[in-house]
Formats: sequence, structure tokens, C-alpha cells
Amino acid sequence: MRKINWHKVAEDIAELNWQSNNMAIVEAGGKKITVARFKEQLFVFAYKCPHASGVLANGFMDALGNVVCPLHRYRFNMQNGRNTSGEGYYLKTYHIEQKEDGIYIGIESSGLFG
Ligand code: FES
Repeated sequence: MRKINWHKVAEDIAELNWQSNNMAIVEAGGKKITVARFKEQLFVFAYKCPHASGVLANGFMDALGNVVCPLHRYRFNMQNGRNTSGEGYYLKTYHIEQKEDGIYIGIESSGLFG
């Protein structure tokens, strides 16, 4: 069974290090993770592009809410990681929750020791 480990990353959303493109990089569970703000919603996904490791926070979001990688412009749905420009990659996504005492990022562990 999958277990989600929650990591507190900030007291408040405003505390994240937002860039002008509405993305921020945080560290949770020893991983760098991208947080993106799109139409009042938060999305969390891998730091690097699954294609050739472009840093996604250096890219941008399109009008539909896909993140666009700065290197080769592949697009990914920020909610489910689908490679919407059709190259067949998959972007790892994570969970985020705004709780009373702060912002938490949830990372699934799959194996026994994960
Ligand atoms: S590294 Fe992201 S599209 Fe190539």
C-alpha cells in the first residue's frame, strides 16, 4: 500500500520563494520540488524535466495550466503529469496541502523502505 509522507515546507504560502513566473523551488524530504501557482491553485511536481533534466521552474506555464520546459518546450499537465505535447514522458507530481499550521508537501513512498 502507498503511504504519503508529509513534509512541512513553509508556515504560509507567501513565504515560498516565488519567482515572477509564479513558480517556486522548495525542498521536501531531501528532494528539490517545483511548486506552481495557477488560477488560485497550487501544483507540485518534480524539479527536473523527465526528458533531459531541464529545470522546470525556469520555464513557464501556458494558458491551459501546463508547465512548459525551458529546454525543448515539452508540456506537462501539472495535475497528473501527462505529457500533453505528446512525446511520451511522464512528469512526477506530488501532493500539497494548506493546513492550519502550514504548507505541507506529500510524497508517496512505494516500497517497504521507501
Ligand atoms: S529537457 Fe525538458 S523538454 Fe527536453
